[in-house]
Amino acid sequence: MLTVGIDIGGTKIAGGVVDAGGSILEKLRVDTPADPDALTDAVAAMVRHFGEHHEIAAVGVAAAGFIDRDRAVILHAPNIDWHDTPLRDQLQDRLSMPITLENDANAAGWAEFRFGAGRRTHDMVMLTMGTGVGGAIVTGGKLFRGGNGIAGELGHVRHVRDGLLCGCGQRGCIEMYASGRALQREANEIADAGGIGARLAQVRAEKGEIPGTAVSRLVLEDDPGAIEAITRVASALGEACASFTAVLDPELFVIGGGVAQLGDALLDPMRAAYEETLPGAGERPSASFAIAQLVNDAGLIGVADLAAQTD
Ligand code: BGC
Ligand code: NA
Ligand code: ZN
Repeated sequence: MLTVGIDIGGTKIAGGVVDAGGSILEKLRVDTPADPDALTDAVAAMVRHFGEHHEIAAVGVAAAGFIDRDRAVILHAPNIDWHDTPLRDQLQDRLSMPITLENDANAAGWAEFRFGAGRRTHDMVMLTMGTGVGGAIVTGGKLFRGGNGIAGELGHVRHVRDGLLCGCGQRGCIEMYASGRALQREANEIADAGGIGARLAQVRAEKGEIPGTAVSRLVLEDDPGAIEAITRVASALGEACASFTAVLDPELFVIGGGVAQLGDALLDPMRAAYEETLPGAGERPSASFAIAQLVNDAGLIGVADLAAQTD
């Protein structure tokens, strides 16, 4: 059976036709329209295009927000202008196929569990480090959705009391300290403080704001300022993982999103902070850490696979 998976990101919509083994048979990418109706039209157009070449059984759509229990409505989205948006019905009006919505990080985590870094586990947690921090919990081989469909919002666990204001309306969320945007903010702060941030300061003077790609490049070049920035962000997330372990005791944490491209430069300081703050450290098993394997396709593969199951 073939299903379509669509991953709606802040800048791009990625869609693909996916088979039962998680392989993508055909793929498309378009810019994400700013207008909500145009966005829905773009998703529908993509699905119709796929339908011309393939026999499609169902469609899954992944979106960066809180999805309701029926997988139909985006209740809230910290970084996108969606409020109680009935995206499933809007798409259903345009397409005659079963459609299911899923949280973007849940979809990516499910893909890693089924076909990627977590395929040999039963209990894993995925964290995505991008604009926000997304989370997915797979426990006992199942995606954990909670009582209202919104479980696994791990980016909104409080990390700092009275901390930075988050898009979810609360303060001090881990998302504000461990996202791609947080990495950029830390780098800019280190540049402005001087001292170790000489090369960062140079980029800051040239560009105004240091781009995330520049921070990553300097991390890989072992620049002390950039290393300090990634260490802050990795430590924040590593500490959070120690707390998540107290609740969930996963075998594995899979780290995805743009920042995960840094590989060990991210995982090493993350593991160190994890081991330092893990309750019962040294006298209990620790979780393993791995970088996501399906990279940019995880969301669409995962949501296509979930759509196949709910069909
Ligand atoms: C949102 C999540 C989303 C994550 C990654 C967070 O701000 O609350 O729903 O999964 O960003 O996109
Ligand atoms: Na999630
Ligand atoms: Zn938050």
